[in-house]
Amino acid sequence: MNDPNGLVFLDGEYHLFYQYYPDSAVWGPMHWGHAVSNDLLHWKHLPVALYPDSLGYIFSGSAVVDTGNTTGFGSRENPAMVAIFTSHDAVLEKKGSKLFQNQSIAYSTDKGRTWIKFKGNPVLRNPGISDFRDPKLFWNKQYSKWELIMAVFDRVHIYSSPDMKNWKFESEFGTTAGAHGGVWECPDLFPLKVEGSGENRWVMLVSINPGGPNRGSATQYFTGKFDGHKFIPDETVAKWVDWGRDNYAGVTWSNIPDDDGRRIFIGWMSNWQYATVVPTEVWRGASTIPRELELKNESGHYILTSKPVRELTDLRRKGDTASVKNLIIKGERVISAGRVDIMQSEIIAGFDFSDSRTDTIGLILENELNEQLIIGYSPLKKQLYVDRRKSGRSDFSKDFASVITGPYNAGKSLSLHIYIDVSSVELFVDDYSLVMTSLVFPSKKFSGVRMFSSGGETLLTKALFYGIDRTWSQ
Ligand code: FRU
Repeated sequence: MNDPNGLVFLDGEYHLFYQYYPDSAVWGPMHWGHAVSNDLLHWKHLPVALYPDSLGYIFSGSAVVDTGNTTGFGSRENPAMVAIFTSHDAVLEKKGSKLFQNQSIAYSTDKGRTWIKFKGNPVLRNPGISDFRDPKLFWNKQYSKWELIMAVFDRVHIYSSPDMKNWKFESEFGTTAGAHGGVWECPDLFPLKVEGSGENRWVMLVSINPGGPNRGSATQYFTGKFDGHKFIPDETVAKWVDWGRDNYAGVTWSNIPDDDGRRIFIGWMSNWQYATVVPTEVWRGASTIPRELELKNESGHYILTSKPVRELTDLRRKGDTASVKNLIIKGERVISAGRVDIMQSEIIAGFDFSDSRTDTIGLILENELNEQLIIGYSPLKKQLYVDRRKSGRSDFSKDFASVITGPYNAGKSLSLHIYIDVSSVELFVDDYSLVMTSLVFPSKKFSGVRMFSSGGETLLTKALFYGIDRTWSQ
């Protein structure tokens, strides 16, 4: 898989469609794969939802429930699920035409099980720009109209429609904002409440490839105002949803019921620099854990936070935990994770570093082959890092082995919240304002944990280890 697509909730089911080529573990003619879940954790695979057709491959897009039956595809009693996606015509592309990406729609009246493509496709034609894709659709309650945001070369366009079939251009955003080291892809736009206030702000997510802060693919965000036509950013600098190298093309769920009210995000856990060659067998590509996005105002700056969804705590294995408290760390110290299998675990660690000589602190996960993954923080550099240079296999790409860094000022204490799932490490810091997602391929399981503090002493206030249940039944 690559990008998650068509994230939509209907009648108790979370739907996750995704970019998928059934005939190979390397990217090819794209289909929409399909999975459903009742809890965002246990997923059931369903048959492929959308197959390539005469208009081309089925590239990324989104899905909504058409509650008001604006399309006429369903009824008010049984509203249709409608998907909008990019039809990518590889033949036209080869011929050198610029018109090979157009937007099309399809619908389902049986909860996403079977799909019918609209006869009038494409509904939004290419105006002559070769990168014209990834429509994310939403209902604008205030103006009673559909809006869509899509990626157009290295900026986004916003369109509106009463019925998803006729689209009107509203505005463009991005020429003078954000990062521009590559093309913009897979945008999203939604309102969020600012924590601790009655204020609402719009958040725009935009993936970029290449041009991420640690090279390759990454996702930036903007906050601002949106009047149904035009997005006005609060700030034009690029801020990053995730500083890691392995969270791309992430978008959020549509139609989450109001009484839940969360903005739930999932990303593709890879990077186009090496996505097609990572050393996995049978499968290739996975999603991040689902994350709840929230917005904070920090001294006048709006900061997007990503927190693992609360459902994840249900996966903690009863009786399979270990913990230590208040240990002084000077140099390195081995910590016992008890019976917990580190490769499928959740780790929460708290550090107190009032000793001003301390230059780096953190933890090392390791195996008998001396392979190690280092997760650290430098109070001196005010920087968080994940060092995967010696973490195991990296021979598949010269771009993989690296130290991944993100700017962060922890003050005098730091809390790390980590999810490890065999070949992925998802790291969340303190209040979830800094996230780093990394793939890792140790040749043998990491089974040891060492904490370190160099320069000065650090108090490890706590380290909790939870074994995590497998979510697939077969
Ligand atoms: C992002 C992306 C999208 C495109 C899809 C094709 O990873 O390049 O822009 O729609 O993948 O698979």
